[in-house]
Amino acid sequence: MSHFLLEASNVSHSFDYPLFNHIDFKIAAKESVAIVGRSGSGKSTLLHIFSTFMKPIDGSVSLLEHDLYALSDGDIESLRRYDVGIIFQFHYLFKGMSALENIEVATMLSHEQIDDAILKKLEIDHLMNHKTSELSGGEQQRVSIARVLSKKPRIIFADEPTGNLDKETADLVMNVLIDYIKKTDGALVLVTHDESMAERCGKVYKLEDKMLKEIK
Ligand SMILES: Nc1ncnc2c1ncn2[C@@H]1O[C@H](COP(=O)(O)OP(=O)(O)O)[C@@H](O)[C@H]1O
Ligand SMILES: [Mg+2]
Repeated sequence: MSHFLLEASNVSHSFDYPLFNHIDFKIAAKESVAIVGRSGSGKSTLLHIFSTFMKPIDGSVSLLEHDLYALSDGDIESLRRYDVGIIFQFHYLFKGMSALENIEVATMLSHEQIDDAILKKLEIDHLMNHKTSELSGGEQQRVSIARVLSKKPRIIFADEPTGNLDKETADLVMNVLIDYIKKTDGALVLVTHDESMAERCGKVYKLEDKMLKEIK
């Protein structure tokens, strides 16, 4: 059995022109890896490929020991629902619902319980009864992160999760993410252009010249 939660081999993708070629990537439990690179280098595309949302032109991706391109739609759906956590720069909370109701949607779908400790660590526990529209952007972002973690994913893919947060709040979010993967034997793949956030990860790769190079 492989001890990697994600193993990608020889991944290549093009849109109008080649974006990247022959990318190999592995991440094991308790590991955090940052992917940095210039805007347009293909970081988000690579993250979409790793997290089941896009199929590359070439290559293979194994997620939690499943070959993604051999799975049925139902199996992919179940991976997304129970095992994969995705955090974006812009959150998608339901506007008319309270913070708590937003998180409950996720825990109901994944048959999990809300972890109050996570709400406390994100400093949003006192906001649970507030409507989404009454929260600041940074508070909404932390609610959306709590929603992802509350479903207890095995692997988290985060695309510029701290892009709209001040430094102090960004640090707090990184603490929570790193803490989560250590406690749950999970893994974190973080895409960021912020070097101080990347530095918090165990490894840092740079997407450059169509290749993924290890820089830490
Ligand atoms: N669905 C798509 N169709 C065509 N081109 C795309 C698509 N998605 C991204 N691109 C292009 O691919 C390049 C890389 O995009 P992206 O992966 O978002 O880069 P990054 O996240 O590093 O900024 C960009 O030039 C972008 O315009
Ligand atoms: Mg991007």
